[in-house]
Amino acid sequence: MMADMIKKPIVLDVNNMMADTLGFQYGIAHAQVDEYAPFAAAANQAVQAARGTGWLGWTELPYNQEEIVAHIEKTAERVRANFDTFVVLGIGGSALGPIAVQQALNHLHYNELPAEKRGGPRLYVEDNIDPERMQALLDVIDVKTTCFNVITKSGATAETMSQYLTISELLKKEVGDKWPEHIIATTDCEKGNLIKLAKENGFDLFYIPGSVGGRFSELSPVGLIPAAVCGIDIRAMLEGAAAMDERCKSDDVWQNPALLEAVLQYICMQDMGVNIQVTMPYADSLKYMADWFCQLWAESLGKNVTRKGMACNFGQTPVKSLGVTDQHSQLQLYTEGPYDKVITLLKVEEFRAESPIPHGCEQFPDVAFLGGKSLNQLIEAERQGTEYALTKKGRMSQCITLPQVNAHTIGQLIYFYELATAYAGELLDIDAFNQPGVEESKIASYAVLGNTSEKYQKKAEEMAKRPAKKDEYIL
Ligand code: PA5
Repeated sequence: MMADMIKKPIVLDVNNMMADTLGFQYGIAHAQVDEYAPFAAAANQAVQAARGTGWLGWTELPYNQEEIVAHIEKTAERVRANFDTFVVLGIGGSALGPIAVQQALNHLHYNELPAEKRGGPRLYVEDNIDPERMQALLDVIDVKTTCFNVITKSGATAETMSQYLTISELLKKEVGDKWPEHIIATTDCEKGNLIKLAKENGFDLFYIPGSVGGRFSELSPVGLIPAAVCGIDIRAMLEGAAAMDERCKSDDVWQNPALLEAVLQYICMQDMGVNIQVTMPYADSLKYMADWFCQLWAESLGKNVTRKGMACNFGQTPVKSLGVTDQHSQLQLYTEGPYDKVITLLKVEEFRAESPIPHGCEQFPDVAFLGGKSLNQLIEAERQGTEYALTKKGRMSQCITLPQVNAHTIGQLIYFYELATAYAGELLDIDAFNQPGVEESKIASYAVLGNTSEKYQKKAEEMAKRPAKKDEYIL
């Protein structure tokens, strides 16, 4: 297993995005990036000037949480001492970060390990309302020995609150008056129903600053509590984020990795019609970082109006993929399908395990050559093979290398992506921090469920007028 945590910088390599490698037909010219340099500088200045304000509260999270971190660590200790299971109830930005960080930084079969080998209780993140899933959870946990972390920034999300209703009723039945001791609430510091419930019932309560939106909240108590409970070094995560912040202060696009990333993706989207970004980690530990990034990039940049009120249809569809698994599923499309994708490979330099491949099968040279090598060498060779195959076919790719997957590098990666998203929002001149497109579906679903308030009643009437479905299209 890996020794000490290496606190080296993660590295962004964009060679395979550029015309120098791919030619001018498929790649981005250095001069093209230079042309955008003044806009990039303005984007950085706008972000830096607004640090900590508006929706940019997350930029200060690496620095302003000393007291909160100490409180979280104490709470984590209490949870570890009293519970064998920890369940997060939350969805979207209140769930994807905790899932990604747990997968990245703890054992890949963490829940199946015996208690003494885990850093904390078993962890489940319930980020859906599939009724079978809730039942399945209840089949494998004992609520009497479980702590539930209800996470919702708005304090009102139907999915999370319906889970809360189920769990709180069950807890009352199973543990009586002590039920509030089983709940930790993480929510907005002022608004919403959860804060009221927490105060009314005396839950342990942690705040998400008003200036930190759901998908930018992983480095707030949203992500820090589940991580700390499961033994993750949250101080190192924040230190990593601060280190990335330091690297991204420059106005010069060639000196600021998150700014370069935003400019290149902007050129992909706006100048080249490259509207799909595939994130392909070559490490199971990073599998759900791709999921977390998908929400961040999609919800932030998928907009139909600019900040000046001009109609637009901006955004780049994020797709998750896993190396090497998806080489046997999607790579054919990526190398020979439409020229509408850019592939981000995530590479790990030093894995936490060394897995040698034994010698054998000498009668089959195609198998025998593997003997004496390691899975570590094989996965990196396959990553290089994919990079080569993509480049040869004129497909843009970039590589982010993590010296190790550890709390420091994950903190860097989270902050890098958050900053790149904010810069991309500036370049596109859209509001990267709202999500109005989610509203219609939300209101319609409440109308379907018979919510009697006026807004939903009106929606129900509107929905009743939609054209009836034709039988001929239903087979
Ligand atoms: O980024 C966002 O704001 C959203 O995707 C939210 O994370 C998601 O809708 C869940 O919201 P809440 O945390 O308010 O329950």
